[in-house]
Amino acid sequence: MTPASDDTHPTTDSYAVERAAPPSVGSVGGQVDWESLRLRAVELMQRAYAPYSRFRVGVAGLVEDGRVVSGCNVENAAYGVALCAECGMVSELHASGGGRLTAVFCVGGDGQALMPCGRCRQLLWENGGPECLLMTPEGVLPMSAVLPQAFGAEDLRHAEG
Ligand code: THU
Repeated sequence: MTPASDDTHPTTDSYAVERAAPPSVGSVGGQVDWESLRLRAVELMQRAYAPYSRFRVGVAGLVEDGRVVSGCNVENAAYGVALCAECGMVSELHASGGGRLTAVFCVGGDGQALMPCGRCRQLLWENGGPECLLMTPEGVLPMSAVLPQAFGAEDLRHAEG
């Protein structure tokens, strides 16, 4: 089916224009303000819905245009369909106009840096690429160090021949 292009189905561009400018808590003069990113992640961690594992996770990500997007984990009685905090953050990224993640801080219930699971590293790779910075328990690392030899869109292009 051809996508509709009338007023009832606005384009991605019109969403971007309508987007309200959010506070840029994650960057100061182009530098990443890691502590404010952490505080946002902690705020989200406190909103986690994790009645089964009781393991709360929050995450905040800085977008190239200064927006900050965030998420918390949302579990389900059907355990396998739990949503990681990063899923919510990536959903907000696209829902609020898209763009690339430049820095991400994920925290556990203690408010300290938590390494994203393997699946979520792949989500970060897709939306931030090799240069996106991640706060880890060992300090700030680029995604290229956190997900070496990552599978990505380039691999699909190569496979096309
Ligand atoms: N979890 C996340 O939200 N992100 C991660 O990167 C690791 C795991 C959540 C999923 C589940 O709700 C809980 O942590 C325990 O695995």
